[in-house]
Amino acid sequence: MSHPVIEEAPAAHGDALNLLRAEIAEASDPAEAAQRAVEVLHDRFPHYDWLGIYWVDGADLVLGPWVGPEATEHTRIPIGTGICGAAAASGQTEIIADVDADPRYLACFASTKSEIVVPIFADGSVVGEIDIDGSDANAFDETDGRFLEEVAALLAPLRPRA
Ligand code: SME
Repeated sequence: MSHPVIEEAPAAHGDALNLLRAEIAEASDPAEAAQRAVEVLHDRFPHYDWLGIYWVDGADLVLGPWVGPEATEHTRIPIGTGICGAAAASGQTEIIADVDADPRYLACFASTKSEIVVPIFADGSVVGEIDIDGSDANAFDETDGRFLEEVAALLAPLRPRA
């Protein structure tokens, strides 16, 4: 029996997922694994200009590992605030083509034109999210969203635990 091959995602996504699995397996602890993961994503995808993981801590999101040209002042964001907080509250991926047109947007960097935020789930709850800022308008699409949802599943076991 033969099945048609449907190329749903660029090969780069499959390669990156394999590399992420290997890096996570080799890391000595969850924090190092999460740091390696953000570095792999930033290195492999040039349109991921600034990339960070926020973890849920009570009613807030707290910045974990990140990679990019500058640090953000938004290291703690209440769930419900900003695009990050909206994605954490709804559990829905947010793809924002033009951040200046979104009244929820919390500005971090003057260079940011677009943003994608993908929730990380564990046991049916949002435990964190991947936040990526792009320097071009409309930098992210649903292909990034589907890919990053797979990445999020790899990151869920890395969440900090009390
Ligand atoms: N822009 C985000 C805040 C986080 S910074 O992009 C790193 C927001 O609107 O929630």
